[in-house]
Amino acid sequence: MMHSSIIIGTGSRRNASAPSGANRINPSRIPNEFYPTPPEATRALLSVEKFEGSIWEPACGEGAIAKVLADTGHKVVATDLVEYGFGISGIDFLKELRPRAKHIVTNPPYGAGLADAFAEKALRFAAQTGGTVAMLLNLSSLSHRRRTEWWKEKPPARLYAIDDIVCWPSHRYGPAPEYFTKHRYVWAVWTPNHKGPSAFWWLSAAEFRGGQFSHNNNKKRRTS
Ligand SMILES: C[S@@+](CC[C@H](N)C(=O)[O-])C[C@H]1O[C@@H](n2cnc3c(N)ncnc32)[C@H](O)[C@@H]1O
Repeated sequence: MMHSSIIIGTGSRRNASAPSGANRINPSRIPNEFYPTPPEATRALLSVEKFEGSIWEPACGEGAIAKVLADTGHKVVATDLVEYGFGISGIDFLKELRPRAKHIVTNPPYGAGLADAFAEKALRFAAQTGGTVAMLLNLSSLSHRRRTEWWKEKPPARLYAIDDIVCWPSHRYGPAPEYFTKHRYVWAVWTPNHKGPSAFWWLSAAEFRGGQFSHNNNKKRRTS
């Protein structure tokens, strides 16, 4: 499948690949926090959310999210700090000065406050573009004493718990360790001007693995 609507853009192509063992948040983490998103997670998101206009995947890795977005007809700008042979490398999202597209959809790096910094930055860009931000986050990040006030100040319009996905680069490191398969994820979706409580709903990954699935079937989403 060609991903012809992925914009390569104008960033530098410096090879920022880390040597094995470098750029780890801690020794048990994969270098550069490279935990790719299985395609069914993005398909599930697209079954309940609509993105009109261009989308920036600012931590694109090998393009796991960006490819699904492009394959479903979205115009995608894909960047990453590190070179994975996909999109534009050498782009530190946290140092970017201007939004590269209307919406932002990503599974950001976690650990050392990175996911928090990504969310803050993405929301600042979305305030400029009037776009939506969708981030795949660790479910436990919703319930954390350092973040409670932040969530209350910046509530996502919608939260989707997604079951049964494993974000692990098994093509590089073999099967995920058992402790890792217990991680649980949530899509947090911020829309312009949303205030008040977040709607919460559930997505089943199995429905979006291979086979048939339909996009933007909003009937399934609870909206209030
Ligand atoms: C959890 S992985 C997810 C990759 C991709 N979004 C996906 O879903 O498959 C996080 C990614 O963030 C990238 N990254 C880490 N720090 C970054 C930064 N400051 N700016 C841009 N990308 C960064 C890593 O190289 C890695 O590809």
